[in-house]
Amino acid sequence: MNLTETHIETLRESWALAEPKSAALITRFYEILFERAPEKAAMFAGTDMDAQGRKLGAAVAFVIAEAGRPGRLLPALYDLGRRHAGYGVEPEDYDAVGGALISALSETLGDAFATRTRDAWAAAYETVSCAMIAGGMPRAERSA
Ligand code: HEM
Repeated sequence: MNLTETHIETLRESWALAEPKSAALITRFYEILFERAPEKAAMFAGTDMDAQGRKLGAAVAFVIAEAGRPGRLLPALYDLGRRHAGYGVEPEDYDAVGGALISALSETLGDAFATRTRDAWAAAYETVSCAMIAGGMPRAERSA
């Protein structure tokens, strides 16, 4: 877990500003993702994007709420990552998603998205994506 107390505090402050606008944030996130990586749209061809957006918003809220409790957060992220491997998500797909999330946050928060806010979100995404990727690996590879 590479999140410091300062990161967690910064994440909570910025999420308090972003959460009331989370529907717009998540719409913008998928627009940016599909603009930059149009091939990813095919993965969501049969998906109800409104429901998907709400699930993603809930996942972000869960990460923020549990950020200081890796014993609760990490097992949930391993499970989420295992399900993602089942959806056909590859480890290299996580970079494009992280980049789109940071850009969408930057647009939504405007001036409130200072360097330290960006750093805290980047550290959080790194932690979350590493745990999800590990969760999606076969057991033998995970313990290697
Ligand atoms: C921090 C990273 C991510 C988070 C927090 C996240 C969160 C979620 C959540 C909460 C769901 C709902 C289903 C479930 O709980 O299993 C979901 C579904 C899905 N996610 Fe992600 N996700 C992440 C990264 C990615 C990446 C990198 C991709 C690949 C481009 C991706 C593609 C999908 C797909 C295809 C579904 C299934 C949609 C469906 O049910 O039709 N996700 N994601």
